[in-house]
Amino acid sequence: MENLLFINACVRGERSRTLRLARRFLDAYQARHPDTVITERNLCAERLQPQYPEVLEERDALWNAGRLDQPMFDPARQFAAADRIVIAAPFWDLCFPAILKIYLERISVTDITFGYDEQGAMVGLCRASKLLLITTRGGNYAGTELEMGTPLLKALCVMYGIPQFACLDAEGLDDVRNDKAAILADAERRADALAEEF
Ligand SMILES: Cc1cc2nc3c(=O)[nH]c(=O)nc-3n(C[C@H](O)[C@H](O)[C@H](O)COP(=O)(O)O)c2cc1C
Repeated sequence: MENLLFINACVRGERSRTLRLARRFLDAYQARHPDTVITERNLCAERLQPQYPEVLEERDALWNAGRLDQPMFDPARQFAAADRIVIAAPFWDLCFPAILKIYLERISVTDITFGYDEQGAMVGLCRASKLLLITTRGGNYAGTELEMGTPLLKALCVMYGIPQFACLDAEGLDDVRNDKAAILADAERRADALAEEF
């Protein structure tokens, strides 16, 4: 039985088009893989603290004491153990919402999600073979240097040892000239197709 970790960073909740697209993908994936257990982390609901000085201090103290089993490291251990990872996050300010960055900082823990070998080279420790970012954007940015969300996640996949990164997106949703329903319908078709191969 495989487990899929769904990271929900859709700040607008049920009004979010990104969440709608993610649910479409997850429903199709579940139908295709009925044995997969999907676990959701809703970042707006759990509100992890940013790594303010006292948070970082506590984390360092626990880490230095070798207490990687402490609740503070639960998100990192959960991320490291997932077979598949899906992140849903809207495009904000050329990247993604800060709640996702806070989560990524929280899961980036040496000896849990990544580490170093005897030569000092970084090695990924995550089990997942694929990570999918699902996003929607107001304008058209895919493939441009202004789009900073996918490059960051792609790079982190290298650090975590996750060999495949994919992105499912819908763009131009805030451009008044565009047919939003048609753009979303096309993205949903791509979501269904991706669920077959992810
Ligand atoms: C705080 C904020 C920042 C945004 N920044 C951008 C941006 O930099 N570029 C862009 O094309 N759209 C931007 N948008 C528009 C969203 O990407 C777009 O509306 C998206 O579909 C929202 O996803 P959602 O429906 O899942 O919330 C921004 C929206 C918000 C609320």
